[in-house]
Amino acid sequence: MKKKILVTGGTGYIGSHTVVELQAAGYEVVIVDNLSNSNENVLDGIENISGIRPVFEKLDCNDKEGLYTLFQTYQGIQGIIHFAASKAVGESVHKPLLYYRNNIVTLLNLLDLMPEFQVKGIVFSSSCTVYGQPDILPVTEDAPVKPALSPYGNTKQINEEIIRDAIYAGLPFKSIILRYFNPIGAHPSAEIGELPNGVPQNLVPFVTQTAIGIRKELSVFGDDYDTPDGSCIRDYINVVDLAKAHVIAMDRMLEDKSDKKLEVFNLGTGRGVSVLELINAFEKGTGVKVPYKIVGRREGDIEKVWANPEHANKVLGWTAHETVEDTVVTAWNWQKKLSK
Ligand code: NAD
Ligand code: WQD
Repeated sequence: MKKKILVTGGTGYIGSHTVVELQAAGYEVVIVDNLSNSNENVLDGIENISGIRPVFEKLDCNDKEGLYTLFQTYQGIQGIIHFAASKAVGESVHKPLLYYRNNIVTLLNLLDLMPEFQVKGIVFSSSCTVYGQPDILPVTEDAPVKPALSPYGNTKQINEEIIRDAIYAGLPFKSIILRYFNPIGAHPSAEIGELPNGVPQNLVPFVTQTAIGIRKELSVFGDDYDTPDGSCIRDYINVVDLAKAHVIAMDRMLEDKSDKKLEVFNLGTGRGVSVLELINAFEKGTGVKVPYKIVGRREGDIEKVWANPEHANKVLGWTAHETVEDTVVTAWNWQKKLSK
């Protein structure tokens, strides 16, 4: 029988790509999402790719009774992938309580219910933001967690601590914490992708919206950093590669491939790419110019960070395969579809 997985935030950007990969691996997926940052049409995109329409329940994960009913309705959920969260760093500075509630209560509700419904494990979406500006690059999982620069970043640190404490207290489940670097791109079919809300804060959606003419020009935030070309460096990871790691993590927990009850993995490529290099890769791959100007630094930006992904490479047997050059083309194809 197919194993049943609950995907919270499954109509969102990373969630939708992960649902497709879970289905391809033979899992049965139940999505819960309150559609606060996504759209029910995403289900059509998923079905167009996989031929399977996942079960969907519109539900807020803050609603514990609603979650309880959900676990009763869909008996036999074996694992959870918890994507549901608010993720806009700037907004979190202005609406901290919203972020603490939405990103923390949702996790507490799930962890509370897991033992009663015998859910074996939870994969949690964390972020390289927990490292702040690392002292040593590429950054490994044992690098110190630095004081968070935003309430959003703080919620990820607190979430990790909650999971750690719950596991050490002997609660009967496993967890894998995945620290994503910078997810970009879209499914190669262009059936699903990122749906930015309002003016994009992240680089790649801003690049694609500028290239298609929605935005006049891209502002490059700083060219006076201590990097080869002066612009900031990140580890941009293809969203489908990222999604695949979740399937491996789920297999690992459900098949008891490790004795460890809690594991943490960096999910990145191991390659640092500057803002100017990314713009260049986009222009080369798509043949479309991106008008841009250099402006001052953005407050709170980290100068440079990229992953040491060896732990995930060796232990999970997972490696990011797609290049930034190819991935920005998938983002462009998605932008063209959105703008039709
Ligand atoms: P997203 O906003 O596209 O997806 C999150 C989904 O969760 C949305 O569909 C939203 O409607 C839903 N949601 C939010 N609050 C909810 C609630 N209370 N109940 C039910 N559904 C709720 O974001 P994403 O980029 O796919 O990110 C997924 C996860 O990965 C988040 O936890 C995010 O913090 C984390 N993450 C994202 C990035 C990134 O750059 N995209 C990087 C590191 C970590
Ligand atoms: C990338 C680079 C900008 C926009 C954020 C969150 C982090 C994580 C991923 C979830 C930076 C530059 C950007 C623009 C620019 N999310 N840039 N012009 O800042 O690495 O991380 O998203 O956990 O927590 O903080 O990603 O895409 O915003 O920026 O020059 O219009 O692009 O300065 O160097 P970031 P980003």
